[in-house]
Amino acid sequence: MALSIDVLTLFPEMFAGPLSHSIIGRARKQGIIQISLWNIRDFAQDKHRIVDDTPYGGGAGMVMKPDVLARALEFVQMSNPGPVVYLTPQGRTLTQSIASDMAVMSQFILLCGHYEGIDERLRDLYVDVELSIGDYVLTGGELPAMVLIDAVGRLIDGVLGAEASAPEDSFYNGLLEHPHYTRPRVFCNMEVPAVLLSGHHGQIRRWRLKESIRRTLQRRPDLLDRPQLPQEVLQLVEEIQSEDRKKGGHV
Ligand code: ADE
Repeated sequence: MALSIDVLTLFPEMFAGPLSHSIIGRARKQGIIQISLWNIRDFAQDKHRIVDDTPYGGGAGMVMKPDVLARALEFVQMSNPGPVVYLTPQGRTLTQSIASDMAVMSQFILLCGHYEGIDERLRDLYVDVELSIGDYVLTGGELPAMVLIDAVGRLIDGVLGAEASAPEDSFYNGLLEHPHYTRPRVFCNMEVPAVLLSGHHGQIRRWRLKESIRRTLQRRPDLLDRPQLPQEVLQLVEEIQSEDRKKGGHV
């Protein structure tokens, strides 16, 4: 199913580069992903096209005006009935699982904040979901919106070509990816693991899964701390830990 996203921002020009190239750029040209960018300032009605104002109660910073944002949202909602997603460090942290849920939605609206954020009443009236891309503060919601579009867009059928595939990703199966190698076979005296040259698909698959698990145990053991891990994964965890014990190594 195609994906249709409307983005409300004060800086639509920021999106041109990241969303016009590579995989997402191709998907847009093919019409699999439709992204409409709306300049919030175009919905201001005064002669100076003001979009923000000082906070009631005083203090530093500016707050984005609810009347202007409401006009922008209502206009966009006439053609996009999907959920309104506000990008903010106060939102739920984006994960692969949230990206997958959004990929089946087919349409949504992204609202990018700036300055100190948006008037709370606009939030209460229009925002369905608040998402953060991590525990750090950026200057606005534009980069987070682009991150979200990339993470969701690549999950849409037909977006990833032959050069990549979502089912083999890090996080798709909840594990980090195994190491990758390409030509030359020997580089700086380092050989590609022999199993990858063997042509034995069963062994290659098992080696990759095992290295995936090894990497996850070393770097993100929290990802393995969940119920219902497949039996094969549990067995390989056991195998790696027992090999490490024999080596006297640490996991
Ligand atoms: N706006 C500013 N910082 C952000 C973050 N970390 N995630 C989402 N939106 C933001």
